[in-house]
Amino acid sequence: MTEHPTGRRTDRPAGLPTGSHDLPVSPELSAFMAGGWAPSPLPADTRVDAHAVTPARRARLSARFPGERLIVPAGELKVRSNDCDHRFRPHSAYAWLTGLTGEDQVGHVLVLEPTGPHGHEAVLHLRPRSPRAEGDQEFHRDRRHGEFWVGRRPDLAEAERLTGIRCAHLDHLGTPTGRRAGTDPELTAVLSELRLVKDAWEIGQLQRAVDHTTIGFEDVVRALPQALAHPRGERWIEGVFGLRARAEGNGTGYDTIAASGAHACVLHWIRNEGRLDPRDLLLLDAGVETDSLYTADITRTLPLSGRFSPVQREVYELVLAAQEAGIAALRPGARFRDFHRAGMRVLAEGLTAWGVLRHPDGDLYRRYTLCGSGHMLGLDVHDCAQARAGTYLDGVLEEGQVLTVEPGLYLQPDDETLPAALRGIGVRVEDDLVITADGARLMSGALPRTPDAIEEWMGTLLAS
Ligand code: GLY
Ligand code: MN
Ligand code: MN
Repeated sequence: MTEHPTGRRTDRPAGLPTGSHDLPVSPELSAFMAGGWAPSPLPADTRVDAHAVTPARRARLSARFPGERLIVPAGELKVRSNDCDHRFRPHSAYAWLTGLTGEDQVGHVLVLEPTGPHGHEAVLHLRPRSPRAEGDQEFHRDRRHGEFWVGRRPDLAEAERLTGIRCAHLDHLGTPTGRRAGTDPELTAVLSELRLVKDAWEIGQLQRAVDHTTIGFEDVVRALPQALAHPRGERWIEGVFGLRARAEGNGTGYDTIAASGAHACVLHWIRNEGRLDPRDLLLLDAGVETDSLYTADITRTLPLSGRFSPVQREVYELVLAAQEAGIAALRPGARFRDFHRAGMRVLAEGLTAWGVLRHPDGDLYRRYTLCGSGHMLGLDVHDCAQARAGTYLDGVLEEGQVLTVEPGLYLQPDDETLPAALRGIGVRVEDDLVITADGARLMSGALPRTPDAIEEWMGTLLAS
């Protein structure tokens, strides 16, 4: 109880996250807030998009841990500063198993309870819709969870209909013992490994992410005149892409890399604070994340003037040749590392032909390529990262896996091993591919990849 400005006693329930500057609430107001609300149920046919595919995913997980309790938390809010939290995004394993992907999943926990020596029952422990009976103040006073502060959540019955999973109140969960995703190494690894091969629904979601990303790249090209005129043109580009990502999906799947000139030689340049120079290239590495949380991961390196200079074109064509060699190595049964090796060989030979390297053997070429040239893609941009080496990095490709192929050359502006004309040029070409029965399908082929096609595409967009 605290003093109300009028001198009357007020009700301030312990533990309710209210702000230091929130006004106290009188008992009269509290009672008034509790009543007079019309029923407002969710439409009876509302389901999460992945409703039909999550039971099979949970069954695959169940089969790997007979007789054991499995705990998969959605995760908790993280403070950004003072009383502002980062936007919440549920853990990918939780989203994959439940189909629940929204910001309202804070603190929720999926538990697979063993039903005997084999099999589990899934129980979703969640914070249901804020109740509105007398004394319940969460709905109008709780800044983190209140319906009038952050929006409505489903009640338990609605959540069961949405997901097809039995639901229980989070308050009844206690501290269950069992294997916990994120801390139990075996469960954590299996949750990554089970996601390596995508089902048809997931491939559809990834294609949607790629298609929205394509539109975002087109938006950026159309916005180049404004970006070139702005003192922080890289930031303008980040904003234009972010608008499309937020309008069409959940946002960007990772921080956009808008790197012009020598900034492109920094692999993850997300400061995006540079001015654009029409004589330079722009390396744009960006991906839209769908509402279902699947992300694209695409890079195009574009001439800011609309035309590649001869030396820019030469570097670009070598990187593209490396990417083509990598893509040609994709097929079921090929080793995951094969496409990387194929691409790197092309780059090493090209660097040798330019006189930068004396021969293509060994690993000295890596001074100019810096990193691996592809990874699995899905709910996370670097998907399935906890999978053990034998199933991923040292494993073989399988039909239904989705991955990026993204070789690059990063020719640092202060690298004295390079001819002056090459210094400060960074080029990456990154596409998203799904492994098919006999090769791979390019999912991001709607974006041009050759220098001629890029120039033509940019010319059309800039004229429109
Ligand atoms: N966008 C990060 C990466 O390409 O891996
Ligand atoms: Mn990538
Ligand atoms: Mn990328």
